[in-house]
Amino acid sequence: MEEMIKVAREALHQMPPASRFAEADAAVLAKHRELLLSWEDELVERFYDTLFAHGPTSAVFQEGERPGREKTLQNWWRKTMHGPIDDAYFGWMAMVGLVHVVRDVPNPMMLAMTPFIAEFIKEKATQEAGLDAADANAIVDAFQRLMNTVGAVITYGYDHARTDALFSVVGMDVGLLQRLTHDEAQVRLTKVRGT
Ligand code: HEM
Repeated sequence: MEEMIKVAREALHQMPPASRFAEADAAVLAKHRELLLSWEDELVERFYDTLFAHGPTSAVFQEGERPGREKTLQNWWRKTMHGPIDDAYFGWMAMVGLVHVVRDVPNPMMLAMTPFIAEFIKEKATQEAGLDAADANAIVDAFQRLMNTVGAVITYGYDHARTDALFSVVGMDVGLLQRLTHDEAQVRLTKVRGT
């Protein structure tokens, strides 16, 4: 798990602080925990209705898998709402990147569904009669940063896993791989630009 925490820290380090989940956001989640937890069933249903309504995302799942995956998201939601959202949490998210490599869930699918959750929360928070505008805004902002951060760490974990796999399979040094990738991208860019 130490290795996963290291990967997560690298991803967090690359994000400008204002875009990242912060202590003040954790306080917002703690303050509204019960309300947020009460949105769980609807969140899980809408998340998977969306994935199952689209060919490429529904093709990821095996026959009869939906109930198990709903439990996975429920578990993620509960752990996230109870916290702490710390190094170990983001290490877990980096590991989720590995899980998604194994299940062939490419990054565009991930990057579509992290803002989906932030949007869902925005819709719920702004419609919730018991919340004043300041609290609703604080929840919306906290979720925007939370989902930015979760998406960044999972996709970085995913990319990292693929690079590490190349290293393990063909024994290619990561620095060398980065240089070759850079040079190859430069060649392609020149070709695409026609310069
Ligand atoms: C907000 C975005 C997402 C989050 C936070 C998320 C979170 C998770 C978590 C926590 C796990 C379990 C990891 C563990 O074993 O500890 C998981 C597994 C999985 N997720 Fe996601 N996921 C997201 C998006 C997606 C998308 C878009 C798909 C497919 C289109 C997907 C498909 C799967 C599959 C197939 C598994 C593997 C289950 C297994 O074989 O054990 N996930 N995800």
